[in-house]
Amino acid sequence: MHKYETTTVRPFKALSGEIVVPGDKSISHRAIMFASLAKGTSRVSGLLRGEDCMSTLAAFQAMGVEVVEEDSGDLLITGEGLSGLKEPETVLDCGNSGTTMRLMSGILSGQPFFSVLTGDQYLRRRPMGRVIDPLTNMGAQINGREGNRKAPFAINGGHLRSVEYHSPVASAQVKSAVLLAGMQVEGVTTVYEPHLSRDHSERMLRYFGVRVDSFKGGASIHGKAELIARDVDVPGDISSAAFFLVAGLIVPGSELLLKNVGVNSTRSGIIDILQAMGGSIELLNQRELSGEPIADLLVRSSELKGIEIGGELVPRAIDEFPVVSVAAAFAEGTTTISDAKELRVKETDRIAAMCETLSKIGAQIEPLEDGMRITGRQSLSGGEVDSFGDHRIAMSMAVAALAAETPVTIRDTACTATSFPNFWELLEQLSCR
Ligand code: S3P
Repeated sequence: MHKYETTTVRPFKALSGEIVVPGDKSISHRAIMFASLAKGTSRVSGLLRGEDCMSTLAAFQAMGVEVVEEDSGDLLITGEGLSGLKEPETVLDCGNSGTTMRLMSGILSGQPFFSVLTGDQYLRRRPMGRVIDPLTNMGAQINGREGNRKAPFAINGGHLRSVEYHSPVASAQVKSAVLLAGMQVEGVTTVYEPHLSRDHSERMLRYFGVRVDSFKGGASIHGKAELIARDVDVPGDISSAAFFLVAGLIVPGSELLLKNVGVNSTRSGIIDILQAMGGSIELLNQRELSGEPIADLLVRSSELKGIEIGGELVPRAIDEFPVVSVAAAFAEGTTTISDAKELRVKETDRIAAMCETLSKIGAQIEPLEDGMRITGRQSLSGGEVDSFGDHRIAMSMAVAALAAETPVTIRDTACTATSFPNFWELLEQLSCR
């Protein structure tokens, strides 16, 4: 558990300069996982050193994977192939990380040993039936709290069969869990999803030599796979860049260049949303890094207007709705977010959390069952709010504070270490320029 801290953020006049956001969280998890499952040594550069990814790394080290950190900060991860993991001697603690827990459950379901996954107080409340059900169907024996719906849960893996799974939710964690289990058995495992969720697992598995076919509506994996060690350079996290995109748009007179940001179309919904709101964001120097598209993002402060957001755009921006609601609070007119019920089962109920925190500093925001409605204002007052232990709520409220009239005090801010350990430092640097 991280410590409890309180942070006060003061309004800024303008933000300018160049920043490099930390490595992508989703891609970092997958780089650690697939390098650990490959035969040989993979060099991983630009890895996010957030608490979530460190939980994934510790889990693989507990199963015998060798990790060496070089002076440059690169990690050398040596795996022994899919059958090289050893039964962990103790419980694997996933901390706050849903990605660790759900993707690991897919991997561990295919392993012929006993393992137990647990997490912090927030993760233990989140729905795990969404992965336990399909994995049980594939033949894994899983026993967990609340009738196999919550962590901690125990897995007796091995003896799986390939399946076709129709996921009721557009979730990359569910899709990946089933594909990673399917990777370990003979035959083809296919996952269908209602909308395309992030496809980092599919891309990186291909990069590690696994046959994965992506098609409209889902993906198939061909088992039994063998992963070949590869070097991975992790792009900057668009979900972390999102805080500075919105900050750059709503603080008048700002101009920021965000370097080396991942712009995979399954993740770049935030750019589409902010551009549709009238935001000036340019993609410069577009290129590819380890099988992922990246670009530099130039953002200039803009007059924003309210829009309607729903449908396929939602999974493409699923982690960005807290900060989208902040942008909407400063936009002219009304923004409606719908089809986003998933927000209720994130690190916290993000619909309830954003409605409570933003209304505390004077925004007009109301919850909907599957989203929220926000009517923008010229400015917001300051005040004191809670992060609910959720990193993205804490950072979103820090962004709101930059354009508020008076300071905003945010309680419980150490949680930002989950995904963005140097967030406060970067903010401080920008305020000194
Ligand atoms: C993630 C998938 C998303 C996202 C999470 C990271 C991943 O979750 O919200 O932060 O790395 O696969 P869901 O699969 O639950 O939508």
